[in-house]
Amino acid sequence: MLRILTGNKIKEVDSLEFESIIKEYKALVIDIGTGEGEFIYKKARQDKEVMYIGIDTSADSMLQYSVKSAKRPEKGGIKNIMFVVANAEDLPDTLSNTADKIFINLPWGSLRDGIIKGEHSFLSGIEKIAKENATLDIYVSYCGLYEKQEIENRQLPALTVSYLCNNLKARYKKYGINIVHISVLDNEGLKKIETRWAKKLGYGKKRDVFYLKCKIQK
Ligand SMILES: C[S@@+](CC[C@H](N)C(=O)[O-])C[C@H]1O[C@@H](n2cnc3c(N)ncnc32)[C@H](O)[C@@H]1O
Repeated sequence: MLRILTGNKIKEVDSLEFESIIKEYKALVIDIGTGEGEFIYKKARQDKEVMYIGIDTSADSMLQYSVKSAKRPEKGGIKNIMFVVANAEDLPDTLSNTADKIFINLPWGSLRDGIIKGEHSFLSGIEKIAKENATLDIYVSYCGLYEKQEIENRQLPALTVSYLCNNLKARYKKYGINIVHISVLDNEGLKKIETRWAKKLGYGKKRDVFYLKCKIQK
């Protein structure tokens, strides 16, 4: 069962209904921790043949773009988008083997913990929703200079390329998630990522953002 935010209401959709909706589309893209959902809304407007799904624990965050998407086309309404209220650590079975591409842009909280610590609940969820050969793109950042307390509270490791290579690669691989590329972006690179949070951080204090590109082969 999926809890889908449509306009300002949450509707429960079962697997049969979900399958009948998505079969019209040539591919499916999922953005986890979508926040307001501006990132997938823009993509969905550009490519109407692909279904875009934003997932977030917070229905309130997704409300603005959910309401906009449910309007008439001349007012910004689009059909190829869904906003799902769910937790990344407990992704609905309805999404099993559906995603061709998965994005996670600038997560915080338990979603970021799952990524950085390579937690089972997060990785098994990605393995579950991804199709064979799906891609997973993650942009993640935190910085000891500005987020010291948060890092301590959440027991986050120092974020470095060597940590990602030496600790995460092997853990991800157990779930068929191959980290094929790692790079570091600065604020200028961050500004080019088309999300609300990327702009906010990009124009803020100097920081590094780590980009992980993964290919899923179960
Ligand atoms: C900093 S915001 C980024 C939003 C958006 N991706 C962007 O770049 O503008 C992080 C988002 O992750 C969501 N989030 C945090 N933990 C989550 C979890 N366990 N499952 C799903 N969403 C989560 C939060 O509700 C929040 O909307």
